[in-house]
Amino acid sequence: MIGNAVKLSYRNKTILAPMVRVGTLPMRLLALDYGADIVYCEELIDIKLLQCKRIVNELLDTVDYVAPNERVVFRTCERERECIVFQMGSADANRALAVARLIENDVAGIDINMGCPKEYSTKGGMGAALLSDPDKIELILSTLVKGLSKPVTCKIRILPSLEETINLVKKIEKTGVAAIAVHGRKKEERPQHPVHCDVIKAISESVAIPVIASGGSYDYIKEHADIEIFRKATTASSVMVARSAMWNPSIFRREGMLPLEEVMQEYIKYAVKFDNHYTNTKYCLCQMLREQLETPQGKKLHSAQSTLEICEAFEMETFYEEMTAVLETKKASLDTTKNEANDHVEDPNVVQIAVRFDKREYPPQITPKMCLLEWCRKERHPQPTYETVQRPLDRLFCSTVTVADQKYRSIIWDKSKKLAEQSAAIVCLRTLGVPEGKLSEGGSSLVHKRKWQDKEVPNLAENGDGLSAETSHKKLHFSPGVPDTDTSKAS
Ligand code: FNR
Repeated sequence: MIGNAVKLSYRNKTILAPMVRVGTLPMRLLALDYGADIVYCEELIDIKLLQCKRIVNELLDTVDYVAPNERVVFRTCERERECIVFQMGSADANRALAVARLIENDVAGIDINMGCPKEYSTKGGMGAALLSDPDKIELILSTLVKGLSKPVTCKIRILPSLEETINLVKKIEKTGVAAIAVHGRKKEERPQHPVHCDVIKAISESVAIPVIASGGSYDYIKEHADIEIFRKATTASSVMVARSAMWNPSIFRREGMLPLEEVMQEYIKYAVKFDNHYTNTKYCLCQMLREQLETPQGKKLHSAQSTLEICEAFEMETFYEEMTAVLETKKASLDTTKNEANDHVEDPNVVQIAVRFDKREYPPQITPKMCLLEWCRKERHPQPTYETVQRPLDRLFCSTVTVADQKYRSIIWDKSKKLAEQSAAIVCLRTLGVPEGKLSEGGSSLVHKRKWQDKEVPNLAENGDGLSAETSHKKLHFSPGVPDTDTSKAS
């Protein structure tokens, strides 16, 4: 993926909040389908990302960041490239920058999580631990802002006093961040504690950069219209929704929420299509089913040990089979293409040039194959042998000709076997410096001889488009200007 032309704006947006285990690709795509403007991924730790390899997944049309244990740590796709914010956990400016540079061309923005109160985050000096080290916050954010072309944001929780909170956000604003997300709770407060809309409001009024309000689910946000009510209550520029979206992602739908059953089916479709790990799919569906986990469907989901079993719980096994078949066909096709490409590219014994046979460049009934055959006879080489393969993906052909134990082929694939053979013959002739029989080469002796032969033997024209040298070498008795000592063999 290449850098974005459009810079992300954080004003008047509804946003899928970062959520560990929830904010993976299927959930993000679903949120976008229903109307979210921006989607945050789950928090990913800088060190983990640094160990990953970036892989373009041609089968799924995704970009994957894959850990050494082959686990996909982050998967994204073209659809979300202009609206996905990558949230990172970091306590080190240089490491954060290294990760952000690694990923910035695949995402629209970079966010640093400064609100996570969980021990796994704080014990490494990350998450909410950063809130007590404003200088480190400043260093991390200013390093990112200076070093990246994408907008940088951070997500904080509020501090014990309003004054401290305002001082911190003003310090953050000075680093040049594009926006600041504020979860309106203190780090020791749990989700069931009321969100402090008044503090978010005071922050919004004290900085010029967009403030993204977080923490409104349950208390405020129960349906789509509540998002705007929460925004007004906080006077924030934008609102990010976590739990309400986790429970029913269609909260982003202006026209109103959809029945959960329908939403879960759409979620499963993305999960299957993008080969989401079944444990993650199951986790997200359990969050949606919530009170219904004791129903027969909930129990089936709970005991599912594969994506297929999840699909069975939702009577979607037909969809699973169809999608799996589509992916398997695509995989087979990609594998064949890759094998051929590898064969072709990696074979050092093959001379390869980019040429294509154009019939209009040759006199009637003269072809590169004929010229090559004639040259082989003259040089007392065995006649050329052609080996042609067809690529399933686009059904094009590539031919390899062997002459005197050396292989030659064009790197341009042709529409037919016959054209591919002619291209291969051109590569060989050109490499050997032998005339190709082209009109531009002037009257070759082969042309003159061929004219003469045509008069003698009326049915000399090769079959079809006149391109089969295998046929011609049995019928023709022509020789180039130089004495041909091998004509008997060709009869
Ligand atoms: C979260 N939250 C969170 N925040 C964050 O910055 N990075 C993260 O990875 C997570 N992970 C996460 C997982 C789950 C399951 C939940 C419920 C929450 C916090 C979240 O983004 C949000 O700030 C709070 O949930 C408050 O918003 P709501 O839920 O009231 O909309």
